[in-house]
Amino acid sequence: MDTQALSSANIARRAAQRVLGVFPERHRRGALSFIRMTLNSRLALLGMKAYTRTPLRPASAEHSEDRRLPGRLEQYFDAHTEGYGIWKWRHYFDAYERHFSRFVGKRVRILEIGIYSGGSLAMWRDYFGSDSEIYGVDIEEACRAYADECVGIFIGDQADRKFWRDLQQQLGTVDIVIDDGGHEPHQQMITLEESLRLLRPGGVYVCEDIHGTLNPFMSYINGFADGLNGADKRLDGEELGYKANAIQSAVHSIHHYPYLVVIEMRAGPMRELRAPRHGTQWQPFL
Ligand SMILES: C[S@@+](CC[C@H](N)C(=O)[O-])C[C@H]1O[C@@H](n2cnc3c(N)ncnc32)[C@H](O)[C@@H]1O
Repeated sequence: MDTQALSSANIARRAAQRVLGVFPERHRRGALSFIRMTLNSRLALLGMKAYTRTPLRPASAEHSEDRRLPGRLEQYFDAHTEGYGIWKWRHYFDAYERHFSRFVGKRVRILEIGIYSGGSLAMWRDYFGSDSEIYGVDIEEACRAYADECVGIFIGDQADRKFWRDLQQQLGTVDIVIDDGGHEPHQQMITLEESLRLLRPGGVYVCEDIHGTLNPFMSYINGFADGLNGADKRLDGEELGYKANAIQSAVHSIHHYPYLVVIEMRAGPMRELRAPRHGTQWQPFL
């Protein structure tokens, strides 16, 4: 980390100590962990800024993700110059291909929150194929216009838990949820929690348009992701291992992209995490 980052860190730490004094004793622990998380993300940002100033070696650039050819979804988007509107950040297409391609041609059910002008629903149908079922949610009544024999429409507020309960009753479970709705952190939090009830094992959740550093929804996701590192209940026996917590058991992985987060669910529960040693020759120091 450079000296600018270090001196900012020291200033921030001293400020944090002063701020902490303002909180009554009983709230200090919560305040401290909030300040620590905020500080850590600021520090990471400063540290990474310095790191990313280092130019990439040409060998890395050759294998860069940026060099991948446009996939089918991006080709569809580029070719779609008329008709129902689609509005996506271009760099999302790479991530879609990475996480969605295994569902193509299967009997999959896709739910997108945020319909707007209907074009993305048609794009999903084209990509996933004729066995797919596509569903859209929007708060605007006008979006009912995009219902047809391949696309189901539900009108409601993604921040309303009652709406989600009704939706679950009518719809059952789905393989993929894409949150491209109102983009407010409280809407995104509720949508994530409710989507976890709807998702089938092996399903994928995507939240689009998480804008701004220190975004509250991002902090929420980071807290969730922190659960993946839980190591609380050590398993009996010689071998290193822990009992999986609820997040480790259900969540396969969490992926971050600019403005985008993807959560992949496990196909089945993982009950424990183990680190076996294989081999017969070992150094004496561990
Ligand atoms: C960015 S647009 C969706 C774009 C579309 N998915 C696409 O790719 O072209 C956002 C949509 O979310 C809808 N929306 C906003 N707030 C909402 C809420 N609370 N619940 C459900 N939909 C909401 C808006 O009406 C709008 O149609």
